[in-house]
Amino acid sequence: MTASLLDVEDLTVDFEGFKALDGMSLHLEPTSVRVLIGPNGAGKSTLCDAIIGRVHPTSGKVVFKGKNITSLPEYEIVRKGICRKFQTPGVLENLTVAENLALSARSRRECWRSFGWTLSGEARVRAEETLELIGLTEKRNQLAGELSHGQKQWLEIGMVVASDADVLLLDEPAAGMSHSEAAQTAELIRRLSLRHSFLVIDHDMTFVAQLEAPVSVMHMGRLLKEGTLEEVRNDPQVAAVYLGRVKEVDRACA
Ligand SMILES: Nc1ncnc2c1ncn2[C@@H]1O[C@H](COP(=O)(O)OP(=O)(O)OP(=O)(O)O)[C@@H](O)[C@H]1O
Ligand SMILES: [Mg+2]
Repeated sequence: MTASLLDVEDLTVDFEGFKALDGMSLHLEPTSVRVLIGPNGAGKSTLCDAIIGRVHPTSGKVVFKGKNITSLPEYEIVRKGICRKFQTPGVLENLTVAENLALSARSRRECWRSFGWTLSGEARVRAEETLELIGLTEKRNQLAGELSHGQKQWLEIGMVVASDADVLLLDEPAAGMSHSEAAQTAELIRRLSLRHSFLVIDHDMTFVAQLEAPVSVMHMGRLLKEGTLEEVRNDPQVAAVYLGRVKEVDRACA
């Protein structure tokens, strides 16, 4: 069995008596992709909040690289190598694509000098590689604000990658994208998973199928089922919690 990079063990988050997480467990291996699905309100975003230290669990633990990180503040968890990306792109619109990437690389170990970014040789090569990976080499000198929605999302994924995070938590990265942009995003995540691990939350089953990754299904704050998309689709409990939405799962596996 492969050693885990991130282990969520029996995590419970209580919002004044309401258990948004109720004994949730999940494991993420190094350089892998795992998809997290579940009906609205299942607790998917709360799980990300709990992993990154934004909400504090009442019981259970989060273990990263063998260390218990449950009680750490968010900035320390980020520094250790877990990053969360939100649905809205968080790029700096008045900086160029290359400057946004340089800024995120710098946030870990680079330096700022007068009016120019100085990057070490290694970081520069890394920034070039990242530009290539996210398909934005041609747009490197364009202002981030001029990019399409999909391109902004890719830039932000690239920024997280440039910061050297081991684990990326992506909450609905393909929301608001065209079919072709979503397909390119799935391809980008698959390529980046050679170096990083991804937990990807999404409702779009076509996009989920394109990730070709194991799926965890959440319901009422806990893990309902894990398996391939096909296995999850054929599970009667999953069908029951999704009700009408199960048709989307069917279509994606057809
Ligand atoms: N700060 C909070 N205080 C109280 N209840 C909350 C809080 N945050 C989330 N919840 C509740 O916890 C439950 C889980 O919410 P969460 O946002 O994690 O679900 P989700 O699976 O991400 O849903 P969606 O698919 O709609 O994004 C919901 O019932 C939500 O209303
Ligand atoms: Mg959510």
